[in-house]
Amino acid sequence: MTIVLNPVLVTGAAGFIGMHVAERLLDRGEVVVGVDNFNAYYDPALKEARAARLEGREGFTMVRADISEHEQMRDLVRDTGTRRIVHLAAQAGVRYSIDNPFAYERSNLAGHLSILEAARHSGVTHLVYASSSSVYGDRPLDGAGFREDDPTVSPVSLYAATKRSCELLSQSYAKLYGFPQSGLRFFTVYGPWGRPDMAYFSFTEKIMRGEPIEVYGEGKMARDFTYIDDIVDGVVGVLDAPPERGGHEVYNIGDSSPVGLMEMIATLEHHLGREAVKVMRPMQPGDVTATYADISKLNALTGYAPQVPLKDGLDRFVEWWQSCSLDTHRRPGADPATEKRAQS
Ligand SMILES: NC(=O)c1ccc[n+]([C@@H]2O[C@H](COP(=O)([O-])OP(=O)(O)OC[C@H]3O[C@@H](n4cnc5c(N)ncnc54)[C@H](O)[C@@H]3O)[C@@H](O)[C@H]2O)c1
Repeated sequence: MTIVLNPVLVTGAAGFIGMHVAERLLDRGEVVVGVDNFNAYYDPALKEARAARLEGREGFTMVRADISEHEQMRDLVRDTGTRRIVHLAAQAGVRYSIDNPFAYERSNLAGHLSILEAARHSGVTHLVYASSSSVYGDRPLDGAGFREDDPTVSPVSLYAATKRSCELLSQSYAKLYGFPQSGLRFFTVYGPWGRPDMAYFSFTEKIMRGEPIEVYGEGKMARDFTYIDDIVDGVVGVLDAPPERGGHEVYNIGDSSPVGLMEMIATLEHHLGREAVKVMRPMQPGDVTATYADISKLNALTGYAPQVPLKDGLDRFVEWWQSCSLDTHRRPGADPATEKRAQS
């Protein structure tokens, strides 16, 4: 591998958020080293297509590796001279964690620890990592957004428990070893090049195939859907604003305007020009009723202010989906496993 000076290491770079963050960093002239293991949680062809976009750009190198391989990660951070890390690789999805707990142990617990160890041995000046709105547990919408200092002691899924664990591991490493860290609690991120296991994406595919969609929580759930470009603004803004040495901060990064599931579906139907056949189902284990980000802490740090409302963001997603030359994630029955675990 080419040795480059002071690149940004982006883990999960073949993933949805990782690809977009890496692109933004390249756009501003950064050198970026991506890491991803291209696992088959959802169709790896989509990850390959994202990676191909990045690999075509000057200043980008992709390393195909598992972040839980701690010696390899330590060597990679040291040998590349990395001082800033955006750590996004994880086993995502709430429902998948019910049947596949050890995937979360490996990627989210061992993986996060491995990145922390690599950072502490290599003089890293800022580690930004992904947490999740799921750490807030199941809370009703009561008119106020969830705040970073609200209790996070009642996760309702293993996924949420591992994400909260990442925050605690980071807190201990910030105190023990001093390198600054920022954790980002993402709220339902969507947009072009998104994840086929998420509801807006799988609904699009099913609506266009004329298949019924299963609407969990009887359609009464609400999510703080956040457009990918707004998320990238927040991630890069935080990367540029590390806490003091020894500091560890956690920020919500959402749209701060929750939308009901039925409204999201109606918006999709409008953009697709087709009505969905809806099958109402009860809430699933691991699901939460609602999410709603209070974003004042992040706004005070970087001026973060989401720009893209759901109707515009879904319009852009549908435009991408319709023009996408990839058919691996569109072919009927292409990946039944992904279909089954959709809607997280
Ligand atoms: N998209 C959302 O709505 C959302 C919400 C909350 C939190 N998050 C968090 O944001 C981060 C990025 O999410 P995303 O939506 O881009 O998911 P994604 O699944 O598209 O991206 C994650 C990437 O990490 C890679 N990966 C997983 N385990 C790995 C391992 N052990 N070693 C190397 N690579 C590995 C995967 O192959 C994938 O490409 C994750 O940490 C996720 O938990 C996302």
